[in-house]
Amino acid sequence: MEQYVISGGRRLAGEVAIAGAKNAALGIIAAALMTDEQVTIENLPDVLDINVLLDALAEIGAIVDRVDRHTVRIVGRVQTTTVDIESMRKMRGSYYLLGALLGKYKHAQVPLPGGCNIGSRPIEQHIKGFRALGANVDISFGNVNADAEKLSGGHIFFDIVTVGATINVMLAAVLAEGQTIIENCAKEPHIVDVANFLNSMGANIKGAGTDVIRIRGVEKLHGSTYSIIPDQIEAGTFMLATAATCGDVRITNVIPKHLEAITSKLMEIGVRVEEEDDAVRVVATKRLGNTQIKTLVYPGFPTDMQPQMTTALAMCEGTSIITESIFENRFKYVDELTKMGANIKVEGNTAIINGVEKLTGATVCTPDLRAGAALVIAGLVAEGCTVVEHVEFIERGYENFEGKLKSLGAAIDKFDENDSRGIQKFKLKCG
Ligand code: EPZ
Repeated sequence: MEQYVISGGRRLAGEVAIAGAKNAALGIIAAALMTDEQVTIENLPDVLDINVLLDALAEIGAIVDRVDRHTVRIVGRVQTTTVDIESMRKMRGSYYLLGALLGKYKHAQVPLPGGCNIGSRPIEQHIKGFRALGANVDISFGNVNADAEKLSGGHIFFDIVTVGATINVMLAAVLAEGQTIIENCAKEPHIVDVANFLNSMGANIKGAGTDVIRIRGVEKLHGSTYSIIPDQIEAGTFMLATAATCGDVRITNVIPKHLEAITSKLMEIGVRVEEEDDAVRVVATKRLGNTQIKTLVYPGFPTDMQPQMTTALAMCEGTSIITESIFENRFKYVDELTKMGANIKVEGNTAIINGVEKLTGATVCTPDLRAGAALVIAGLVAEGCTVVEHVEFIERGYENFEGKLKSLGAAIDKFDENDSRGIQKFKLKCG
């Protein structure tokens, strides 16, 4: 197992470029299977979840050619629509194979998705949508099985706003006969990105990014070359790391509009954020002020930024309150922050954060992807040395996280847990 060792107390400064959006890429890679022609995807993030999904595509017979670190060519003529691959049980994005394969081949068998353990993550809205298009769907032996003689347009009203089901049903509907209307859709930027990609392949999707998506089924899709949008959450994580360390960082390759919820909260707590066309500069010069936040669907404050924000606020002036309204189990990292001296009390889905003057280094365990990033931020500000265990969670969604932080002046390195000599040397070097 690998771990980050961080010597805290250094202010981040400089410039960092953000990678392509992981959660858009997951949908886009699955969508690439929906044509027999070649698709080229650019600005692909080189992160674990993406690489595992690409391996799965190759295993079911697609041609996957990694042209370079951030570009892949896919020819999606698969040999089987039964995805019996163990790694797919451990990730969330595998559920997009259902919509893509069902849409194109009218059959899909995919393991029930796993992913970060942040609360109960049912998929009944995905299933409801597939059924409305005429598919038979059942769950047996840990797999979701979906098949149909043909798919026909349907009218779907989601009971809750869900990112995954919005993308999945959109995927299945693009090749269905007739018109599909999906209401109460999620509006996240990556939904728009997947829709734009599908449209670039010849699909007819209108309204992505609003509450109602209208899809006119087409007979087939064709090849395309497409560049993925920047990762809003990676960008937000660097914004928070900068704010927490009282740093000054220009974060490039971003769409500032997608960051507005984060930007406005940072400004409210006393951080300067300057927006450029495709960059934001974050400058913090004093202790952060306190605030109240409730996570919401886009364009509200993203749940995927909640742990990083809680961590930055652990040292705010006064008391802050964060309410998590999307996932019920997303405060597991708070116990780890407490080990570092944070004063945070969780009551139900609310964290009451009493700001402390300082955090101190400790060995902490990453429970999931975004919480892992948050613990790294805590390590960056803490006095002394912090060990963040289970780096593999962080690598699911952050490309070269420690390399980027190092380029901004952080003292962080990745070690095998058994490399006690390397860890000792690092600690001595950092003082
Ligand atoms: C996506 O998860 C992201 N994952 C998550 O990112 C992100 O936190 C989440 O959207 C919210 O923005 C991927 O894109 C792979 P949802 P997803 O369906 O699709 C409930 C990260 O760190 N729900 O929008 O699973 C659900 O339980 C990750 O990158 C149902 O009840 O999220 C949750 O409470 C973690 N029934 C809420 O809806 C359903 O059928 C939102 O879930 C579907 C969802």
